[in-house]
Amino acid sequence: MEPTGQSKPSGSLHKFLRMVLFCVFILGCFVTAFLMYYKPSTTWLNHLLESSDSAKSIQHVYTATSEKNMTIVLVWLWPFGTKYDTNVCSSIFNIEGCFVTADRNFYNKSDGVVIHHRNIAGDLSNLPKSQRPPFQKWIWMNMESPSHSSQLSGINNLFNLTLNYRRDSDIHVPYGSIVAADTVEDFVPPSKNKLVCWIVSNWSPNHARSKYYNELRNHVKIQAYGRAFNNYLSDKDYTPTMSSCKFYLSFENSTHKDYITEKLYIPLSMGTVPVVLGTTRENYENFVPRDAFIHVDDFKSPKELADYLLLLDKNQEMYLGYFKWRQHFKVKRAHFWAEHTCKACDYLRRKNEYRAFNNLNKWYWG
Ligand SMILES: *[C@@H]1O[C@H](CO)[C@@H](O)[C@H](O)[C@H]1NC(C)=O
Ligand SMILES: *[C@@H]1O[C@H](CO)[C@@H](O)[C@H](O)[C@H]1NC(C)=O
Ligand SMILES: *[C@@H]1O[C@H](CO)[C@@H](O)[C@H](O)[C@H]1NC(C)=O
Ligand SMILES: *[C@@H]1O[C@H](CO)[C@@H](O)[C@H](O)[C@H]1NC(C)=O
Repeated sequence: MEPTGQSKPSGSLHKFLRMVLFCVFILGCFVTAFLMYYKPSTTWLNHLLESSDSAKSIQHVYTATSEKNMTIVLVWLWPFGTKYDTNVCSSIFNIEGCFVTADRNFYNKSDGVVIHHRNIAGDLSNLPKSQRPPFQKWIWMNMESPSHSSQLSGINNLFNLTLNYRRDSDIHVPYGSIVAADTVEDFVPPSKNKLVCWIVSNWSPNHARSKYYNELRNHVKIQAYGRAFNNYLSDKDYTPTMSSCKFYLSFENSTHKDYITEKLYIPLSMGTVPVVLGTTRENYENFVPRDAFIHVDDFKSPKELADYLLLLDKNQEMYLGYFKWRQHFKVKRAHFWAEHTCKACDYLRRKNEYRAFNNLNKWYWG
């Protein structure tokens, strides 16, 4: 009796332990499966935001950002209505300590509010209405030239900082830049089967560039793409087409100081020699090596430019001269619009002095 009496409890203990082990095993399986399929959200802040109802989660994020000494930047209007991932300052640009959001509930807590000029209503009715916190700076953001940005009288005494392609803006974000290459090596341009190309999305016969083109095409064959030429180029054909041209007409749609756009930086980055029309050669040379491009002003007439392009077509050594700079440099293009708003945040973190920009209209359009 005794032995069986003793073995009975020990038998049920075994059963119990087996049961526990089984449960632990099953639980383990669930945890593993969860970890395998659960994709952590990009940032812990986003996670906090998704976690509960909005008022509560905003309070959570605010507590978290102030504990971590983070700067909050509010993107008030999506540029041209295009949404983008705002929370990439650390992951893409190595800018730490920023929380960039388009959630207007953060207005009262935002250190900076970025306002995209081209989205401002003429009567300013879509600008923030509640009182501006004393520490908050409004940042005027615009990447379009004065010719394609309407002047609004009401914005003159509104902003604290400017974000623009112009070098004398507070937060300077050019369309691209030439930066040191990681290694020194000869650059070999991609193979070419066209001489001069032009891709146009906004054709207007009145643009200075259209007049120059109409003259130039009398003297050299130009492959023109775009709806205006009944020759629409799809996105997938863009890169291969651009890189298969020896020269590309980097003709800006307007002429202004420092206004040098992706029309220059895309061909430069692809190994196609840009022929520029826009601001002066001197101004281009502030940003790009002088032997990286051809300027229409280098020639007395479109005919002389055409003759020079035809000469380079026959002389490979001269043509390759336009890539010497690539031994030491490479092209870095702007990352729209995340880079712009991360740089705004970076600026606010580095400079905290009071600023008012009460001269916007004169500065930009004057
Ligand atoms: C911001 O603060 C003002 C008072 O200064 C208040 O009227 C408004 O409701 C607040 N806005 C938000 C989004 O919390
Ligand atoms: C002018 O060029 C800029 C830069 O490429 C572009 O964003 C803009 O839409 C163009 N505007 C017109 C009217 O051509
Ligand atoms: C918070 O960050 C700013 C900007 O980086 C820095 O100047 C300041 O010393 C920091 N404050 C604290 C308490 O860490
Ligand atoms: C920002 O500019 C406005 C308008 O000039 C001014 O009233 C405000 O005090 C400035 N704020 C800061 C923090 O510089």
